[in-house]
Formats: sequence, structure tokens, C-alpha cells
Amino acid sequence: MKVAVFRKAHFNAAHRLYRPDWTDERNNEVFGLCSNPNYHGHNYYIEVRVTGDIDPETGYVIDLKILNEIIREEITERFDHSNLNEDQPEFKYLNPTGENIVVVIHDLIRARLDAKYTLKVRIWETDRNYFEYPVSFE
Ligand code: NI
Repeated sequence: MKVAVFRKAHFNAAHRLYRPDWTDERNNEVFGLCSNPNYHGHNYYIEVRVTGDIDPETGYVIDLKILNEIIREEITERFDHSNLNEDQPEFKYLNPTGENIVVVIHDLIRARLDAKYTLKVRIWETDRNYFEYPVSFE
């Protein structure tokens, strides 16, 4: 019997979408205001879903204290009040779009989680824009 456990978190960060190998004109055409050279910020909300079997001894799928600690250490402490482009090596050569951020966050948490768990991450960049990885159609 599989059960999904969710934990929410959030961080504030600045970013800029652009490609250094493109002209300013091309960057502006594709990324618009998001390519503002002075950066802009978002309140990123994340939702982490861990699916697994209920441990008959504890009644837990995963101890939420432990999940929370992983999210804090890998994501919120590192990303909060940072400039994603300048401060985070993952985005040195990778555009910090919602799509790329959700994959990076997933992979950082995945590396700390036991292989017996299934992991899915969602990230809200605004109230209306959010991203999910990996994708499932259940
Ligand atoms: Ni943005």
C-alpha cells in the first residue's frame, strides 16, 4: 500500500533569463523582462512528494523531520536570498527557468533519498506558473 507524503517549503531568489551567446536583441525577444540585466526576484514555493510503503512499525512512509532537514540543507538554506545565476554553480551555464530549477531541486533531493522512495517536485514561480518533475500522467 503506497502513500504519498508532501512537504512544502519556500525561498526567495533572484534570477535573470538570458544566453550570453545571443545578442541583447535576441535575448529581449525571447525572454522579455525576464532578461533584465539587473535581475529580478521571485518567491518560489516548492512542494516535495515522497511516495512509499507505510512502515508497519512506525506508521510512517518517511519521517517528515528527516525530509524537512533534507529540503532545508539542500534547497532552502542554499537558495534563499541568493542570486541563482551568480551564486549557484548549477546555473552558471544553465538558464534558471522554472523548468530547469525544478529538475535541479529534484536531483539534489533525490541524491539524499533512499532508492525505495518515489520523488516528485513542484515549484511555483508565481501564483499562476508552476512546474513539475518528473512528469506523470496518473
Ligand atoms: Ni523570473
